[in-house]
Amino acid sequence: MFIKMNFSQFFSYIQEAPWYEKFLSPVIKEVTTNDKVLDIGTGSGKLLELLHNKTNSVNTGIDTNNSMLQEAQIKLHKIKVDLVQIEPNKNLPLKNSSFHIISICNVLFNLNEKSVYKILNESIRIIKKGGKIIILSPTGKGGILKLTAKFFSIKNLGIYIWYFATKNRAAEWTNNLILKEYCRKNNLKYNRKFTLNGFAQLETIKV
Ligand SMILES: C[S@@+](CC[C@H](N)C(=O)[O-])C[C@H]1O[C@@H](n2cnc3c(N)ncnc32)[C@H](O)[C@@H]1O
Repeated sequence: MFIKMNFSQFFSYIQEAPWYEKFLSPVIKEVTTNDKVLDIGTGSGKLLELLHNKTNSVNTGIDTNNSMLQEAQIKLHKIKVDLVQIEPNKNLPLKNSSFHIISICNVLFNLNEKSVYKILNESIRIIKKGGKIIILSPTGKGGILKLTAKFFSIKNLGIYIWYFATKNRAAEWTNNLILKEYCRKNNLKYNRKFTLNGFAQLETIKV
C-alpha cells in the first residue's frame, strides 16, 4: 500500500492518526465562529477539515506544492474552502487586512530565513488589526522514551517519523527564537507555549 503512495498521499495518510489531531488542536482553540482563517502551507488540508467541522470559520488554504493541494482537494471535496497555489518568496495574492487568523503549522521551522521573513511580512500585511498569527512547530525536544510513553499505539506510528524527520531543524527553531526577535524589532506582541506534551510549540503574534 505505502509503496504506491507519493509523498503527499503518505503525508495525508499520516495526518489521519489521532496524534495529529491532538497536535493541531491548540490552533483550533484559537479560532471562533465566522473568523476568516488563512492557513499558510496547508499541505493536504487536515487543519482546514478540522476547522470546518469544529468552528464554522471561513477558510482559505495556500501552499507552494501542487501535489499537496491535490491531496487537500480530495480530503476537502465536500467542504467549502478556497485552495490557492502560491509561489515561494513572492507577495501573496491576498488583500491587505483580510483575515482574523493566520495559521502556519509545521512549516516555518523548516524554511530558510529569507522565506520565513517573507511569510511573516506578508502575514502582517494581510492580517486584520486585532488578529492573530499562530505558528505551530515541533520542538525537537522530548526523546523516544517519552514519545513512546505518551503516544504509543498502532494508529500513532507516524509520530515517530514526524519526530525524527523534524528533530534537528525543530530544535534549532526552538533555541533560536526567531519569531520573538522578529516581534521585538517590529513592536508586536509575542507569546509561546509548549503543547503535545512538550513535543510541539504554539507561538502567537498579536497584531
Ligand atoms: C510539513 S507540511 C505541513 C502541512 C500542514 N500545515 C500540516 O501541519 O499538516 C509543510 C507544507 O508547507 C508547504 N510550504 C513550504 N514552503 C512554503 C512557502 N514558502 N509558502 C507556503 N507553503 C510552503 C509545503 O509545500 C508543505 O505542504
